[in-house]
Amino acid sequence: MPRFEIHWVLPLDRLRAVLRPEAGTGEEPSADPAREAERLARGLHDARRTSQKRKERISTLQAELDGLRTARAEDRRWLHYLLSDAFERRGPWVTGIEVDGRIYGRTARHKSPRLEEFFRTFPEASGGRILEPGSLEGAMTVELAKRAEAVVGLEGRPRSVERAEFLKGLFGTENATFHVEDLEETRLSDYGEFDAVFCCGVLYHLARPRLFVESMAATSPNLYLDTQYARPEWELTQREGLWGWVRHEDPDNPQSGLSETAFWPTLEELYRLLYESGYGRVETLDFLPDNRHGPRVHVAASRP
Ligand SMILES: C[S@@+](CC[C@H](N)C(=O)[O-])C[C@H]1O[C@@H](n2cnc3c(N)ncnc32)[C@H](O)[C@@H]1O
Repeated sequence: MPRFEIHWVLPLDRLRAVLRPEAGTGEEPSADPAREAERLARGLHDARRTSQKRKERISTLQAELDGLRTARAEDRRWLHYLLSDAFERRGPWVTGIEVDGRIYGRTARHKSPRLEEFFRTFPEASGGRILEPGSLEGAMTVELAKRAEAVVGLEGRPRSVERAEFLKGLFGTENATFHVEDLEETRLSDYGEFDAVFCCGVLYHLARPRLFVESMAATSPNLYLDTQYARPEWELTQREGLWGWVRHEDPDNPQSGLSETAFWPTLEELYRLLYESGYGRVETLDFLPDNRHGPRVHVAASRP
C-alpha cells in the first residue's frame, strides 16, 4: 500500500493563533487572569456536557443496532425453518438448491459448468427463447431463465414438475413454464420456435433418439447437447437405422427414462444422426470418454 508523508512547516505564531482555546469561538482572551480562568472553566464544562451527550447518543444507537441484528437473526431462523419444511414436504429431491447460503433439497448443491458453456456457445440464447427437455426439478431452468426471455421446461414426471413449480414460485421466475410431457411422444414444435435447445442428460434415456433429435431440429436452429454414447466394442445392435447399445432403465429412479429401455448410439452414429436431422454444423465442445457414468460428450449443433 502506498504511504504518503507531508512535511509542512508552520510558523510558531500562526500555530499559537490556531490552537488557542478561544480560536473560532468569537471570544477574545481577557487580560484579567481571574476572568480568563472562569472563561476557561466554563468552556471545559460545556465541552464535557457535549461529549457526555454524544456518548449517550452513541450507546442508544448501539443498543438499536444490536436489537436489529437480533431481529434479523431471528427472521433468518424462521426463514430456514419454513424453507426446510417446504422442501421436506415436496421431497425427496434430486437437486440441492442454495438459498441464503444454505442448501435445501438434496445435501449437495447442483452445480454445472454446462450453463456457462451453453450461453458462450449460443449468445442468441441470452435474451432469447430456450427449450429445456428433461427439466427435472427446474434447478437449471431457473438459472437459464435469469438470462433468457423465456424458458420452456418439458419433463415426464409430474412430481418433478411440481417441485419445479415450487422453485419457480420461490425465486419468482415468471418467464419459465413447465409442462408434463413424454418426450418420445411430443411434437416439440407445438411449443413454438426457440433460439436454442438446452438438452442435458436426457437423450441417452430415450428408446428412440432419432425421432426426438429430428423434433429438436424442427423447433430450433441451435442445439446444446450433453449426452452419453456407446463404445464400438460394446455389444451393439441396430435401432432406427443406427448402431448402438441397449440399456435397461429403472422407472423408479426419477432421473431415468420413461421407457423400459434406452438406446445409446456410438459417437460416430450420434454425429451421423445429427447431420441427417439437418444440423449442418456439429462441434465437439467437451469430450469425456472416462466419465464415471459412461463415455460422455458435449456437442454444439447448428442448422444452416
Ligand atoms: C438425468 S435427468 C437430467 C436432468 C437435467 N437435465 C440435468 O442434466 O441435470 C433426466 C431427466 O429427463 C427426464 N426424462 C427421461 N425420459 C423422459 C421422457 N421420455 N419424457 C420426459 N422426460 C423424460 C427424467 O424424468 C429426468 O428428469
